[in-house]
Amino acid sequence: MFNLAVFCSGAGSNFQALYRGIEERHLPAQIVLCVSDKESSGAIQFARANNIETLHLSRTPYADEESYSNVMLSALHAHHIDFILLAGYLKKIPQKVIAAFPKKILNIHPALLPKFGGKGMYGLNVHEAVINAGETTSGATVHFVNEEYDKGEIILQRTVEILPDDTPLSLSKKILTIEHEVYIEALQKIISSTGQEKGK
Ligand code: GRF
Repeated sequence: MFNLAVFCSGAGSNFQALYRGIEERHLPAQIVLCVSDKESSGAIQFARANNIETLHLSRTPYADEESYSNVMLSALHAHHIDFILLAGYLKKIPQKVIAAFPKKILNIHPALLPKFGGKGMYGLNVHEAVINAGETTSGATVHFVNEEYDKGEIILQRTVEILPDDTPLSLSKKILTIEHEVYIEALQKIISSTGQEKGK
């Protein structure tokens, strides 16, 4: 059984889709920890309602990056976390945590990386940039997280067509629906390849 930590900042619809998808697909995995920088996030509420342990972790009270990283790391180790899934998490993962979980941190991005990623590319900004660039397709990307923002190896992508009357908001809604499908598929793919490596 793989232990998962899901990091969220917002509504947590991807978190909920992952939670349900694991059940529906009978994946050998369980979400054992929900980490959020926002105490009142929908994700935290959903986790509490489903008896998943939560950790509200903000960088602000910590004197330095080192102590903040150590608190995050000790929570992850205490829960024997195998994979970390970033699902609408808006904060940077500290370098020390990335180094401790090589190819074990996944993120979902609401565009077709490597385009439209990096600094400032979150929320409606992404969809606005895609539409302004005159693209006719966009989509969702699940990728590994490495030291470079939105640059880790791509695991899975799914595309959607952009219609002439699409707005950043309509495009974001369309993409969110496919995010819910592609994230669980990517997780399944990673779990089955890791399971084989481990001889499970
Ligand atoms: C999603 O579009 C995700 O790709 C982006 O933030 C949004 C989070 O939505 N990084 P939710 O909190 O999962 O509903």
